[in-house]
Order: sequence, then structure tokens, then C-alpha cells
Amino acid sequence: MESDNSKTQNHQNHELVPHKGFKLISGTHDPDDVDQIYNLEIRDSDVFVVTYPKSGTIWMQQILLLLESKGDVSAIRQVNNYSNGDLIPWIELNGNRQAFITAPSPRLRVTHLQYQFMPSALSHKGKVIYVARNPKDVLVSYFYFHKVANMLETPKDFNDFFEKFLQGDVFGCSWFDHVKTWHAHKDDMNMLFITYEEMIQDLQSAVERIALFLGKELTDEQLANVVKYSTFNNMRKIPQANYEQVPGDLLSHQQGKFMRKGTVGDWKNHFTVAQNERFDEVFNKEMEDFPLSFLWDVSDVV
Ligand code: PPS
Repeated sequence: MESDNSKTQNHQNHELVPHKGFKLISGTHDPDDVDQIYNLEIRDSDVFVVTYPKSGTIWMQQILLLLESKGDVSAIRQVNNYSNGDLIPWIELNGNRQAFITAPSPRLRVTHLQYQFMPSALSHKGKVIYVARNPKDVLVSYFYFHKVANMLETPKDFNDFFEKFLQGDVFGCSWFDHVKTWHAHKDDMNMLFITYEEMIQDLQSAVERIALFLGKELTDEQLANVVKYSTFNNMRKIPQANYEQVPGDLLSHQQGKFMRKGTVGDWKNHFTVAQNERFDEVFNKEMEDFPLSFLWDVSDVV
């Protein structure tokens, strides 16, 4: 079992590196390689899931893989072809761009990158699914993930992390910029923009929308299985969906589970009144002209 000390030592090798207005993680991302993602050739069948961290990436990965397998969950349990234990590879991880070039179709990929780094050919080929989540819950989820992930700095305390998040001093940079920029380019490519809260609210409808967007034709029974095996409780039982295959030098599993709470409004258990007021002030200023609203509490979801 790793000690907190070993995590401290590990993250010293994984600092945030500013790169073209974004931040990469040294040792995890190679800036030159990330720059070449822009020039990748794209096939019609390519699908990129794009998220700000902790917005439901693994959830969308699970749904996409289940749609591919027509609801057969054994396909998820068999995913072990990637050395770092990901269900679907991250395009920005060292080595993954090169592998993408010759990978068989359909090439499903995930990314936290900002719009400017993505293949320009997505403007006329391939598909993008952007998943957004209310940023208060993202902040809380990201705080706990920083304790687990050895490539990220262990937060000093919640307030320290709260400030870093608001300043965009984390991998992914500013949540506000990420969501606004990607949403602004929604019509420049074939994109489905969906929220985590919509998925919580009605997973069946969300899965149907995703299947329709991807042109997947499944029977009612197959679709029901996709929904069944992508619920939080079922995913939590699947080691691959819970990142349990990821080696201990990347994730300190004893610090917490990847599938942590999976709900809307957990921020209420963490934010002080003052923090909430400060967050609302920044949110209202940053998102003033944003056309979509977010759900902040599980009682809004019903
Ligand atoms: S990462 O590290 O950026 O890839 O994380 P990401 O996968 O984007 O987000 C992890 C959070 O998503 C929650 N999650 C789910 N919630 C509800 N239902 C399902 N099926 C589901 N799958 C993943 C996961 O629990 C993390 O949120 P928190 O709030 O920490 O529980």
C-alpha cells in the first residue's frame, strides 16, 4: 500500500505546465505531441468525448462501449488492452496520438483538451460529444480526485483547492472557459452537447439521444441493458469502470473510489455560505451570456 509520502513524491514529477493558454501535466502529456493532435486525419466513424475533468467522462465511455456491444456488459469487463487501464484511450496521453493514426475503426477517444488543440478536420468529419456538469459538483469531485490521483497535487485543504479551481489553476484550467469555448463551437462540428444532470434526470432518454446521434440501432432490450449497466450502482461494481485496473503509481486507490457519489448537489455538504456566495458571484459574471442553465440540487432533478 502506498503512503501519503509516496503520493507527495509522485506528484512532484507531475507539475502543471502552461502550454498555449492551457495547462498540461508534465510526465503525462508531451506538449509537442499534443500540438500534433490538431493535424490528425479524421474518419467519419471517429467519436471524441470531450469534458472538463470530473464531468462524467467515464459514464459516457461506459455508454459508448455498451452501445458498441449492444448492451453486452462482458465487453466492458474484457477491456484491458490499454496499459493504464482506461476504458477508452485519452487522445492527449503520451503515445496515444500515434496509436490513434493506425487504430481500427471505430476510433472512440476521450479528452479534456480545450477546443484549440482538437483536430481541425472535426469541422467536417467525425463526431464530438461534450458532457458538461454543474461546476460546484465538479469542484467537489475534483477535490477528492486530487487526493487519489498521483499525477495531481494533493490539495492543502478544501478552501485552498476552491480558490485554485476558481482561478483555473488546475488541469483543465478554467471550467468557465472550457464550457463556454466548446459550447460556442457547437455548430462548427457534429456535436452533441449534453449535461451530467440531464443524464441523472433521465438516463434512458439520454442513452436514446446518444444512440440516435451516433446512428446506433439497438432493440429495446439492448437499449435497456445499456441503461442498466450504466447506472452508478452497476458501474461501481465493475472494476474496469471504477478504474481499479489502474496501477497504484497513478491512482492511490486506498484514498478513495473513483466512482465516489455520482449525484447532484454534493457541493452543499462542502461549501460554506461565504464560499457559495463567492462562487455565485464568479459564476454569474463568467456565465452571464451563456444560453444554458445548470441544475444545482438533486431536488431540481426530479
Ligand atoms: S475524470 O477523472 O475527469 O475522467 O472523471 P469523470 O469520469 O469525468 O467524472 C467522475 C465523476 O462522474 C461520476 N460518475 C457517475 N455519476 C452518476 N452516474 C454514473 N453512472 C456515473 N459514472 C461516473 C463519478 O462518481 C464522479 O463524480 P463524483 O461526484 O466524484 O462521484
